Amino acid sequence: MFLLQAVNYQAINGVIMKAIDVVIKEVAARDGLQAQPKHLTLAQRRELIAQLAATGVPELEIGSFVSPKAVPQMAGTDQLARDLPSRAIDYSALVPNLRGYELAISAGIKTLAIAIAATEQMNQNNIRMGLDQTFAMAEDMLSRAQTDGVAIHAYLAVAFECPYEGKVKPDQVVSQVQQLMGFEPARLVIADTIGAANPSEVEALMTRLVSEFGTERLGCHFHDTRAMAMANVYASLSAGIRQFDSSAGGLGGCPFAPGAKGNVATEDVVLLCESMGYHTGIDIPALLGCVATLSDMIGTPQGGRGHYWLANNAELFS
Ligand code: COA
Ligand code: ZN
Repeated sequence: MFLLQAVNYQAINGVIMKAIDVVIKEVAARDGLQAQPKHLTLAQRRELIAQLAATGVPELEIGSFVSPKAVPQMAGTDQLARDLPSRAIDYSALVPNLRGYELAISAGIKTLAIAIAATEQMNQNNIRMGLDQTFAMAEDMLSRAQTDGVAIHAYLAVAFECPYEGKVKPDQVVSQVQQLMGFEPARLVIADTIGAANPSEVEALMTRLVSEFGTERLGCHFHDTRAMAMANVYASLSAGIRQFDSSAGGLGGCPFAPGAKGNVATEDVVLLCESMGYHTGIDIPALLGCVATLSDMIGTPQGGRGHYWLANNAELFS
């Protein structure tokens, strides 16, 4: 592998390890499963989480605390939350409203993701609230979170294009980010929920946001609907972004965003980052094992663009 940057090291419990340069949040157990026609059992979801946790990924989204009528695939996330593998991983869950917030906290989750869509209609279809109401809810949750000692990752969904309202103007997104940053989330994730963004607009928007807010709290979430997710990851990396969501095998989709295809695949993002000298802490053979498990559980083959090559060259990374 060619290293384009110096390797950083850090001490964890007295052991010197390569420091993580790019933080990946693995979302297969939530964004990956939430729109699948095949509903996994709780035992399968527990097994998947255990395997994903063993890849070395620093952050793992385990599910969502949503109405089981709206998203039956996520029913029982509270039970998973009470029985997580004891590893040094930041486990998180998506919550759509205050009810979900309270349920997640009482199940012991310390990092919550909240989705705020950039458009009126997407908020209505996703969580049955208008834009103003959604921002007011975000403000309320973020102020509660400070008292409750939990971290919030605020997602600005459909930040490039909305399936109902079309293109979203960058000026609008910048002002929404300004407003949300004022509520002090631990992270603010710019999400291309339907996979409609191109690398030029991603680089332009993320460069603008980084110049205003720095890189520490910003992250990105891409879907691969138009085969540009990897190019968009590279564009955001170039803009300075170091926090990405991705899904093992590229599994993913949103039940309320028609046309949204899979998330960018974790194995592709890891391959891109490690090839360029950015350490992710993720073990490729273990990750490929998760993709095999997912393929078995879902009943169709899963895998990112680099999957075939990686499967034949996994020893390069072990
Ligand atoms: N967790 C579990 N159940 C919940 C809930 C939550 N966070 N919020 C509401 N409910 C239940 C209510 O108790 C009620 O149940 P009942 O019909 O048995 O009485 C039912 O859901 C409807 O509640 P209501 O407050 O009227 O909500 P709604 O019908 O306006 O639906 C959401 C709003 C947010 C609960 C629902 O649309 C949802 O869960 N959406 C999921 C969004 C999502 O996951 N999107 C994908 C990722 S971005
Ligand atoms: Zn998504």
